[in-house]
Amino acid sequence: AIIPQHILVTGGAGFIGANFVHWVARNHPATHITVLDALTYAGKRENLSEIPANQLTFVRGDICDAPLVESLFTGTFGPTPIDAIVHFAAESHNDNSILDAAPFLRTNVTGTYVLLEAARRHDVRFHHISTDEVYGDLALDDPHKFTEQSPYNPSSPYSASKAASDHLVRAWHRTYGLRATISNCSNNYGPYQHVEKFIPRQITNILAGIRPKLYGQGLAVRDWISVEDHCSAIWTILTQGRIGETYLVGSNGERSNIDVLRMILARMGRDPDDFDHVNDRPGGDVRYAIDATKIETELGWHPKYTNFSTGLDETIDWYRTHTDWWMPDKTATEEKYRRQGH
Ligand code: NAD
Ligand code: DAU
Repeated sequence: AIIPQHILVTGGAGFIGANFVHWVARNHPATHITVLDALTYAGKRENLSEIPANQLTFVRGDICDAPLVESLFTGTFGPTPIDAIVHFAAESHNDNSILDAAPFLRTNVTGTYVLLEAARRHDVRFHHISTDEVYGDLALDDPHKFTEQSPYNPSSPYSASKAASDHLVRAWHRTYGLRATISNCSNNYGPYQHVEKFIPRQITNILAGIRPKLYGQGLAVRDWISVEDHCSAIWTILTQGRIGETYLVGSNGERSNIDVLRMILARMGRDPDDFDHVNDRPGGDVRYAIDATKIETELGWHPKYTNFSTGLDETIDWYRTHTDWWMPDKTATEEKYRRQGH
């Protein structure tokens, strides 16, 4: 394994990025971490307040700002030069992309391009964080799962922008020899996830005295993975992955939305029918499912936190004990959903 000395983590103040920074700080204290994050509605500086100050450099800025990005690779920035980029920064929420795709094209496509160009100029290892949504969806009764060979077939403006970013990364590898890898992961859950997302929205609705909201009949299936397992997979690919390769990341966590909601209701002492059915997402994907054979057999990565009930209990506890973290976002998020009929 090649352990980087100094990583640039874009989007490190968001949900998965912050969990990844915590993971690296815990497991690789000798690696310096620079976070570049614009602190949009989805990012919070305080998500990183527990990281040792001497291990973290925080830069508030936009990945589309080419001169700013360039400045991180020149002169005397950081204790040692940046030797790897782990690129999380994105607009990440499907419902937002349906209202206005513009920031998705800007950050997810142009922003990725700006970073690729900097990585190319300075010959920096690049790991791109992507999603299983680039493959579109599967029928509920399809015996197959997504693999690295699945054709790209994105459904939403968000997924299409992520697919575009994957194609850019592949092209920069093939054309310029950029040392790049890509991971496409399924739905993450855990601490620091924004209250717009399915699991935190339902937990915080219950805590705030609002009835949980289920899109349509709730039969859509997501393949849930603990964010901790996603973080360990990213580190494995960053340090041991084959250059130019794509790895799918998942932990066999398929569940329908209604099952997940009923689990949350039961664990929070509510009646199983204590929720509202709301508008389904236009064009909403039916099912995602990951076949993670490649990363498991080639790199020996395995998920550790596969007990979803336990993971859900820990996540519920986290939101119970972090009201100050999520409450400021709750009203605006619910107001936006109300206008969308969600
Ligand atoms: P998030 O929305 O919680 O965080 C995104 C972060 O990026 C925020 O801190 C935000 O401030 C920052 N950001 C946005 N635009 C920026 C810009 N122009 N410049 C700099 N920073 C900017 O997202 P997340 O759920 O943590 O997802 C992170 C990545 O993982 C995304 O690339 C997403 O596509 C991918 N992914 C997410 C999931 C999931 O389940 N959440 C699953 C697979 C892949
Ligand atoms: O698969 C990976 C993707 O997972 C990531 O690429 C995205 O960044 C991430 O947001 C997530 O996308 P989804 O669209 O699957 O997640 P979301 O939490 O928005 O919704 C999950 C399912 O729950 C989906 O079928 C819609 C449904 N839903 C969502 C919300 C917010 C509800 O039923 N009620 C809700 O209130």
